[in-house]
Amino acid sequence: MSDPCTILIFGSTGNLVSIKLLPALYHIEAAERLHPETRIIGFGRRPWSDGEWRDEVRAKLAERLPGATDAHVLERLLSRMLFVEGDLEEPAGYLRLAERLREEADIPANLMTYLAVAPKHYGGIVDNLAAQGLNTEDGRWSRLVVEKPFGFDLESAAVLDRRIRHCFDESQIFRIDHYLGKSTVQNILVFRFANLMLEPLWNRNYIDHVQISHAEAAGIGERAGFYDGVGAMRDMIQSHLLQMLTLVAMEPPPCLDAEALRDEKVKVLRSIRPIPREAVHAQAFRAQYGPGASGGNKVPGYRDEHGVGHNSTTETYASLKLYIDNWRWRNVPFYLRTGKRLARSNSLIAIRFKHPPQQLFRYTAIEQLKPNWLLLNIQPNECIRMEIQVKQPGLEMRTQTERLDASRCTIPSEQIDAYEALILDVIEGDHTHFLRFDEVDWAWRVVDPVIKLWSTERDFIQTYPAGTCGPPEANRLFDRDDQSWREGMDG
Ligand code: BG6
Repeated sequence: MSDPCTILIFGSTGNLVSIKLLPALYHIEAAERLHPETRIIGFGRRPWSDGEWRDEVRAKLAERLPGATDAHVLERLLSRMLFVEGDLEEPAGYLRLAERLREEADIPANLMTYLAVAPKHYGGIVDNLAAQGLNTEDGRWSRLVVEKPFGFDLESAAVLDRRIRHCFDESQIFRIDHYLGKSTVQNILVFRFANLMLEPLWNRNYIDHVQISHAEAAGIGERAGFYDGVGAMRDMIQSHLLQMLTLVAMEPPPCLDAEALRDEKVKVLRSIRPIPREAVHAQAFRAQYGPGASGGNKVPGYRDEHGVGHNSTTETYASLKLYIDNWRWRNVPFYLRTGKRLARSNSLIAIRFKHPPQQLFRYTAIEQLKPNWLLLNIQPNECIRMEIQVKQPGLEMRTQTERLDASRCTIPSEQIDAYEALILDVIEGDHTHFLRFDEVDWAWRVVDPVIKLWSTERDFIQTYPAGTCGPPEANRLFDRDDQSWREGMDG
């Protein structure tokens, strides 16, 4: 059982809380992993009583987890919920909050503050918390969970970090990248470091290239306020996709403690070859979804989404080619791509091996051997698959591709998302799956030249029809004609 604590949530009426945090808290409650004394405080401008906040949470959960809400669990969770009215920028609300924390005997002193708000508010919130002494750790812990994107670019991330560290020590800060909480992403490490047979192949001698791709069928929904001006490169590639890249590319750490693991990830990020300005168009590509169809329904283009400017050039699709200049990976391209309103939702790491050094079968009926692929599907289904070549039964010397599947391929997507594990990690004080600032800083260095150039090119952005596989022009990043995107496990 975890420590009793107070989970204080800023942004309690926002998208992240409805979609991710409340379902996660419900799941943790159902698993009986919260201490009975733990309380959850929503902080926001609505003039709500605790009861009204509970009604809101009940409605949100009914929407997000239809049919999955056990009345008992739900009531237990709701009974922990309290609300404090306050404006993020005004000290008055923080004073009310501090008084409530001090005066109500059944609110635990340990404090986990979750910043589920736009990054522009982080500084103000942190200063206001500190003004009330809520950052101090006398006889209790006080931990700050900071959502991505951490800053807007390299420079703003450094400014933000200085501001936060003025009030909170690094040991108190948990920079969240929820992909690190996904069990499938954690499985990359197990797969690599618990299976000896892969290690000799895991390098430039045998691997042709690596693809890390995250596709979403959904559009930006109601998130224009956050997304417009941010775009796919900052929203997904700077964080989630680069994190997956570090796990695929890192050296084995000396042990699994937080610092050892993060040291190795930073080494990978530091080894990524910087993209010179003149190479940005050869190594990066962006596009925006136009009108199209999704799930059989007509859907608007990005510029027609509620809250988006009519001439916005924010990218909803981005791809990037990177090289890691170290002994293991030199000259192996890593292709990263992500997009919204694509044909379907899927996240996949696809590793393509080189051809054998001698084409023994060239003069037989096998004209061109297919390469081996190793596929790590992250979601919606967790699956590890190896594609190998075998001889077709019969008299001819023909090959066919066979699949070696790890057994979990058929399991439907799990109910439990990443946030459950990460919230419990914060309560435990475990930083392993959270970002150290140097990781964030080096990740910004990777994408900074691209976003800087893109921000000056505001007249035009390529489009792709919603509901398709994305713009074919994205293929131009590939080094050779025989390389192309894998659209999923089967193609
Ligand atoms: C978030 C991004 O960090 O990750 C969203 O801000 C994106 O734009 C989401 O949709 C994807 O996460 P998941 O867990 O749904 O794959």
